[in-house]
Formats: sequence, structure tokens, C-alpha cells
Amino acid sequence: KRRIGVLTSGGDAPGMNGAVRAIVRMAIHYECEAFAIYEGYDGLVKGGDMIRPMAWEDVRGFLSEGGTLIGTARCKEFMERPGRLQAAKNMIAKGIDALIIVGGDGSLTGADIFRAEWPGLLEELVASNELSEQDVQPFKHLNIVGLVGSIDNDLSMTDATIGCYTSLTRICEAVDSVDTTATSHQRAFIIEVMGRHCGWLALMTGVATGADFIFIPENPPPATWKEDMCDVIKKHRAMGKRKTIVIIAEGALDQELNKISPNMVKDVLSTEAGLDTRVTTLGHVQRGGTPCSYDRMLSTLQGVDAVRAVLECTPETPSPVICIVENKIVRRPLMEAVAQTKEVATAIKDRDFEKAMRLRDAE
Ligand code: F6P
Repeated sequence: KRRIGVLTSGGDAPGMNGAVRAIVRMAIHYECEAFAIYEGYDGLVKGGDMIRPMAWEDVRGFLSEGGTLIGTARCKEFMERPGRLQAAKNMIAKGIDALIIVGGDGSLTGADIFRAEWPGLLEELVASNELSEQDVQPFKHLNIVGLVGSIDNDLSMTDATIGCYTSLTRICEAVDSVDTTATSHQRAFIIEVMGRHCGWLALMTGVATGADFIFIPENPPPATWKEDMCDVIKKHRAMGKRKTIVIIAEGALDQELNKISPNMVKDVLSTEAGLDTRVTTLGHVQRGGTPCSYDRMLSTLQGVDAVRAVLECTPETPSPVICIVENKIVRRPLMEAVAQTKEVATAIKDRDFEKAMRLRDAE
């Protein structure tokens, strides 16, 4: 019987539990044994009770729960080889040689490094008499499959990451609430949304709520942004609009790559447009709560395919990440997706904003 471990890593995202549920149940369906690794890579490094067998009923009710019920952490030990050595030993102790990781690009890269090192780690464990040749013999290859759980929708090669639509829904609801009070007072609001270095949440919120102005890192505004923004907003006001909503991504920059902060925008709207202006930073409410139907569906379909990928991949197959492209669940080489994601950051650093936008469009 194959033994498959699942862990969630990095920032939690709504829908991660749906993925864990699908993986556990699909593993059981294919007559494998499923193990939950608690608290992300921390659990892998600590081993013991942090790696627990999962039965069908252990994931009952998971689909509609937000966050991650098996816990997550940003683990420093796993970033160093001794931590990964310990993790390999713990996995062999439990008979696990396949891992499904639900996390962001950093967590998935860590998993691929682990896979590349795996034979060397086993040799080291044998050489130091921690394990015998017999112990490691059945575990010569490690299978890694990634699912992207992140509200940021920042991984290339997939149209959506698990959690991004729940977050977008939550943000839109918040903007709708701000709208009513803004309209009552004829105020302007600067609403800062998450996304780290990615502007997807900010851009889609702007589209979905009819915001007046949007700042995203991939398309920084020119040096004239203060005047440009005031012109647009004054035009909207002249047309009878009683409120002003500006959406700013937390990673927003100007073309010189200086940060544009919500307070900078507030000062401009107060002094130059003469508007009574407030700043609302939505924070972690954007990441919490019940997953929307899309994230339940996405995490379930991807969890199903992740188990199939474990069973189908040969030692020669590059580690896959399960994606969704034009509404189809597809597998892509994990490290290619990570490399393309990094290219966006490099394009921004090189101030090649056209390329950054093109690379995001390609997603
Ligand atoms: O990656 C998800 C995310 O919520 C980002 O949007 C945000 O920048 C970051 O995590 C916040 O991290 P933390 O929860 O560690 O404050």
C-alpha cells in the first residue's frame, strides 16, 4: 500500500481544507494510506505524533471550513539540510514516500529541493547508521505534487489559486459596506488590499466594485499620477458620483519602484481634490472565513488529481503542480511555474512593466 502524506504550508487560504479532504478520501479510494502532517514542514521535521494516519471520517466537515485545520507554519528548520535530513528520517519511520503540499511558491520550491536531495539524504542516514540499507531500500524515490493555496493568485501557469476567489468575494463585500458610508458623507476611501507583490486582488476588486482608481505593482503609474488621479476623480464627481473609492494593492509602487502608501494617496485626495478622505486597511479578514463555492470545487478537483498524479508519476517525471487553465484541471512542471512567477518580479525590478503585465496576462 502506498502511503501519501499531505501538508499545508505558508499563509493559510480558504479551500485548503477542501484539498486535504479530497486527498485523504481519494487516497483511501485508491487503496493507499493517507497521513496528515500537522503544522506544515514543522510537523515533518518534528515527526512522531505530528504525522497522523487519516481515516475517511477524519475529514468530515472539512469542505466548508476556512483556514487550515491541520495547521500551517513558516518553518526555518526545513530550509536547512539538517532539518530536511530529519524530515526524511521521520517519513521513512512512517513509511511515507509521497508528499502532496498545499502552499505558495516558496513552500512548493522547498518540496522540490527535498525531492532532488532525497537519495543523498537517504545515503547520509545510512552512512551515519541512523537507518540501515534495508530500511531505506523501499523508499528510493520521493514523489512530490503541489497544489497552490494562496489568496494572492500569484503563481504563473494557473488561472486561479485555491483561496483567491473567496478573498476577492470578502474584499468586495467590504468595499460594498464602505460604499454606503462613503456615499452618505460624500467621502473618499483608500482601501488597501493584500496580495503581496501581486496586483490580482486589487485589480479584480476594482473591476468588480467599479472603483475610481487602482494601484497595482505590475503597472506602476507615471510620475504624474497625483494629477491624473485627481482629474479622474473630479470628473466622476462632476458626473454626480457621491463617493470615491481608490483600491491600492499592498505592494503598490511608482515607476521609480518607491512604495505608494495609502496615506500618500489620502494626502493627495485631501489636499489636492479637497475630499474628506479615510483609509481602510482590510488586513486578515481577507484571508479568513468560509470558502466560497469556487474554492470548494477547485480544491476538491485538484486534490483528486493530486492523488492520481502521485500514482502516475515516474521517477523521471518532473514534480507537477496541479493547475486550472481555461476551466480544465491540468498538471504543469512545478519548477517551471515557479520560474515564470519569479520572472514577473524580475521584470518589475528591471522596470520592464510591459513584460510584467504580459507575464501576468499569460497566466
Ligand atoms: O500570501 C498571503 C498573504 O496574506 C499576503 O497577501 C500578505 O502579504 C501576507 O500573506 C501576510 O502575511 P502574514 O499572515 O504573515 O502577516
